[in-house]
Amino acid sequence: MKQIFRSIRGTTDFYPPQSFVIEEIIEKVKAIFQNFGYEPIILPHLEEEGLFKKSVGTITDIVEKQMFKIESKDIVLRPEGTAQVARFYIENNLSKLRDFHKFYYLGAMFRGERPQKGRLREFNHIGAEAIGSNSFYLDAEIIELAVKIVREIGIKDFSLKLNSLGCIKDKNRLAQLIKDKLAVYKNTFCPDCQKRFNYNPLRILDCKNEGCRVIIHSLNLDRTNYLCSDCNEHFSGVLNLLDEFAIAYHYDPLLVRGLDYYTNTVFEIITSLLGSQDALGAGGRYNELISNLGGDRVGAVGFALGLERILLLLDTPTQINRLEVFVASSSLEMYKEAYRIARLLRENNIPSEIDYKDRTLKAQLKYANKLGIPIVIIVGDEEFKEGYILVRDMEKSLQEKVRKEDLLSIIKRRKRC
Ligand code: HAM
Repeated sequence: MKQIFRSIRGTTDFYPPQSFVIEEIIEKVKAIFQNFGYEPIILPHLEEEGLFKKSVGTITDIVEKQMFKIESKDIVLRPEGTAQVARFYIENNLSKLRDFHKFYYLGAMFRGERPQKGRLREFNHIGAEAIGSNSFYLDAEIIELAVKIVREIGIKDFSLKLNSLGCIKDKNRLAQLIKDKLAVYKNTFCPDCQKRFNYNPLRILDCKNEGCRVIIHSLNLDRTNYLCSDCNEHFSGVLNLLDEFAIAYHYDPLLVRGLDYYTNTVFEIITSLLGSQDALGAGGRYNELISNLGGDRVGAVGFALGLERILLLLDTPTQINRLEVFVASSSLEMYKEAYRIARLLRENNIPSEIDYKDRTLKAQLKYANKLGIPIVIIVGDEEFKEGYILVRDMEKSLQEKVRKEDLLSIIKRRKRC
């Protein structure tokens, strides 16, 4: 029996037309990032396990349950990009080069979760990190950037929620507040939250368990209960800018995010169309991360959007083809001429295709039609010997006889129309 290999659950094979849609998204995204002054970085898929333990946090789903570890080594497939960018920034002493950096990255992340719609083991991040400033203008800019990308990709159904965790002192105050208010319920929490109560109380706030959620909502948390005046002012600055830029948001005092490195602003872009995996992207400030990993104390903020979740919301067109010309020939002798023409067109950056299967002329036209190629050049024995080539407009079903030497300029002109 032949063995047929299948893709791993929770991974995706992308092929046309969807792979073309992804390329179009990437082109758009790159243009937007560059417009906002972000520079591209391409970092490896493998990192030390300790990097994520120290930055994302040991009592987090990512570190406790989801990292793919290379057996017998302290190396993991990166589950996210922020800690990695911080590692790269510190290792290369980038603060000495310039006191402010803006990076963007597009690439695969890996999390060993039980796969379901929108939750994959291998997925792609569209991410940005701005390192070196604590300005609330930068928080507002990064939020605007994330929202702009989602919108320009063509997503309509989304909303933005945000919160502020404050500085480390405020976070500790919030953790204590949660512990004080929740102590009486401790034994009624789910097993995960009972553990979180002792080691990471903030994480109780985003527990999905129904029983825990009822208790959490009864807390009536508000930022004024735990933010210091500086952090309160910073957050008000962000909110005022979002108001001024008419970026709609919802303040959600229960939003804490499942990664430990966040301080101050945290946000999520969510949709109502994806069920439980409703976050299209998320981000926030991480003013302590770089110093925790051994670098200077610098303000930083960033976000990452999940490409696959975005794709789930987009209609996939039935056909996308970037080929513009098919060069058909009426005989084997003419095939060589056709091949020369295809080469000439490609050299002139006119995407062109030719037959490789010894098809008849009729079958070549049918194939070109199937590929959706708008122009077919027909190299026919008789016309060619008289110095002519046929150019067929497949949409209008119109055919024109052109002189060989005029072919290139005619095709170039058609391309422009
Ligand atoms: P995150 O919330 O873990 O944040 O991931 C960002 C986005 O990646 C999510 O909102 C979601 O769209 C997508 N995503 C996450 N896990 C999966 C999965 N298993 N399958 C498919 N898509 C997924 C971070 O990773 C932070 N590094 C974001 C950040 C950047 N914060 C500051 N800078």
